[in-house]
Amino acid sequence: MTPRVLITGASGFVGYHLVEAALQAGMEVYAAVRASSNVAHLSDLQVNYVYPDFSSKEALIAMMKEYRFDYIIHGAGITKARSLDEYNKVNAGYTQNLAMAVSESGIPLKKFLFISSLAAVGPIAYDANWPLPDVVTPRPVTNYGRSKLLAEQFLGAVSSVPWVILRPTAVYGPRERDLFVLFKTFRRGLEPYMGRGAQWLSFVYVKDLATAAILALESQVSGVAYNISDGNAYDRYALAAIIKSHLKLRTIRIHLPLPVIKLVAVISEKVSRGAPLLNKDKLNELTAANWNCNIERLKNDLGYRPRYNLEKGMQETLDWYAANKWL
Ligand SMILES: NC(=O)c1ccc[n+]([C@@H]2O[C@H](COP(=O)([O-])OP(=O)(O)OC[C@H]3O[C@@H](n4cnc5c(N)ncnc54)[C@H](OP(=O)(O)O)[C@@H]3O)[C@@H](O)[C@H]2O)c1
Repeated sequence: MTPRVLITGASGFVGYHLVEAALQAGMEVYAAVRASSNVAHLSDLQVNYVYPDFSSKEALIAMMKEYRFDYIIHGAGITKARSLDEYNKVNAGYTQNLAMAVSESGIPLKKFLFISSLAAVGPIAYDANWPLPDVVTPRPVTNYGRSKLLAEQFLGAVSSVPWVILRPTAVYGPRERDLFVLFKTFRRGLEPYMGRGAQWLSFVYVKDLATAAILALESQVSGVAYNISDGNAYDRYALAAIIKSHLKLRTIRIHLPLPVIKLVAVISEKVSRGAPLLNKDKLNELTAANWNCNIERLKNDLGYRPRYNLEKGMQETLDWYAANKWL
């Protein structure tokens, strides 16, 4: 029988690519979306829609009993919020409800894959290396990271569910919107940086993440959290250099003083009604010295082999933005 996968957050950037990869793997896809979700870009894909209420464990149990999924990829989450409570409610609370619903429904789920974040573990010191095996004591530096770590802990406590966690570093690719803001800034001739501190950054192309997700579903492994990046560390100027070279741009590099950025963050927190793009909490992430990570475990356990480095992935991404008239 065709395996059934529930993909939450299917309407989002990563979600789209998860749906595509699951279909390519021959799965029957159930996209969990909200009535308000924009799903126009999924219309060409063979998906079934479900509209779960993640705040109700009973409603989720009923959904499990009705559809009896073989796999779940839980990608729904928020990356911008005004408070830790808000992050925890969605990122941790909904993950716990979903995992407990699987457990209490008694369905024989083969794998619950949770899309966490490298933010749950936090950055390392500039001159540090990830130890092998790639286990470090998590030290998230943002509320977002804390909520993802709490979600991981909730999931770990539901012993009857065979879970795997992927902790992606910054994900980029077609349909991504946050880094895209930066690309548009480069197009205007500006190349802004927060402060003068050196940084190591890491990236993963969304298609490599989606491939790893399918590997995780189909593997025999459970109860493990894996970092995922393309395996490289990039200095803070590498991203701009690649984009400028592909788009043939000339830019002026500007290092904005950190006290000024902090002031802007404080003001935007005060004036914006929703979750501001920049706040003091987010600054801890954006200015951290080293977001490199070790992916040896993912390679060894799941046979993950990243097919894209930043150069190759960015070429494909920029081609997509151009073809779809985003740039
Ligand atoms: N992008 C990255 O660099 C990155 C890095 C590490 C980890 N991640 C994780 O990857 C996952 C997907 O991120 P993304 O970049 O694809 O973000 P995204 O484009 O904003 O997608 C988020 C998805 O979650 C859904 N969602 C948000 N709040 C929800 C709620 N209260 N109830 C139900 N659904 C809700 C959204 O539904 P609507 O369409 O209805 O809003 C959307 O489908 C997230 O868990 C994120 O933490 C992303």
